[in-house]
Amino acid sequence: MVEHKIAVITSGGDAPGMNAALRAVVRSALARHAQVVGFYSGYEGLIDDDYVDMAVHSVSGIINRGGTILRTARSPLFLTAEGRKKAYSVLKKHQCTGIVIIGGDGSFRGAHDLAREYKIPVVGVPASIDNDVAGTDACIGFDTAVNTAIMGIDKIRETAESHERIFIVEVMGRRRGFIALEAALAGGAEGLLVPEVKPDLEKLAHRINAGHSRGKTSSIVVVSEGAGSADMAAHPEHDELPRPPQVSISYHVAEVINRITGLEVRVCVLGHLQRGGPPTAFDRSLASQLGAAAVDLILADAHDVMVGRQSGKIVVSPLADAWEKCQALDCHMLELVERLGR
Ligand code: F6P
Repeated sequence: MVEHKIAVITSGGDAPGMNAALRAVVRSALARHAQVVGFYSGYEGLIDDDYVDMAVHSVSGIINRGGTILRTARSPLFLTAEGRKKAYSVLKKHQCTGIVIIGGDGSFRGAHDLAREYKIPVVGVPASIDNDVAGTDACIGFDTAVNTAIMGIDKIRETAESHERIFIVEVMGRRRGFIALEAALAGGAEGLLVPEVKPDLEKLAHRINAGHSRGKTSSIVVVSEGAGSADMAAHPEHDELPRPPQVSISYHVAEVINRITGLEVRVCVLGHLQRGGPPTAFDRSLASQLGAAAVDLILADAHDVMVGRQSGKIVVSPLADAWEKCQALDCHMLELVERLGR
């Protein structure tokens, strides 16, 4: 007799490795004689009862694919008590004994409310290219996104050198600068702007000028999309809401650098490119471990928790820690980018 039926969704911005996590959830659950039902498009599909029964073959050939076969969405409705009530009635209808949410901290807020209101086992699996979830050293998708950004920076550097230009390369991260920091360090950038640090564009321009006076022929400035926007950092709860296209600071940065240095400046916004592509080995492995651990937790009746990996070990933390214990950018790394990018 099947005693457990686990619901699973992917939610929020997609991240490479979500499919690998889904595969791990489905196959670990089936191996433990639990059934799995997937809901499409995150909480939206859960509320609308848009579902698929998952079998071993449902997740064949997806470990190497970016995106999510269950599709994803941001759901303003699930932020309301009425939306969660509807979602819970669907879970009851399917006789689900727990739910796994593969997503970021915006998705976990709704999950936390559901767990508190309805006492159903809820486990979060952190997947977000932004890497802005506390309780894990890395989120699924971050490593792939950083590698995609590096690939972009390497290519841009070639044209930048050929034309002796400055390039502003904008990467994702509206509230946090984790992608920008890693990409700037590993891409050898000459400048870095992140949401966490107030930008000093004049100082940046003078630094770039100094480099060019010493014989540099090109420079790369990595800019996080939320840099210079204190408002973004102040409203993390907006993550689950669809949002209007954001006005980027990058063109303003380009204009200031051009004005002060007289050098030719171009802007390259990498954008959603960073969300796609085959997940790296790191992300596939992380996703497989976290997905499997999430099933163990549901079967052990864990409630309102997130599974993460810290220093190579699987760890479990209260779901609310994901956003309440906000991780800080490593200031040594920030300083290192500046020291090395001369
Ligand atoms: O949360 C992940 C993320 O890719 C952010 O880096 C970015 O700001 C946002 O999602 C973009 O969201 P959307 O795809 O809804 O425009």
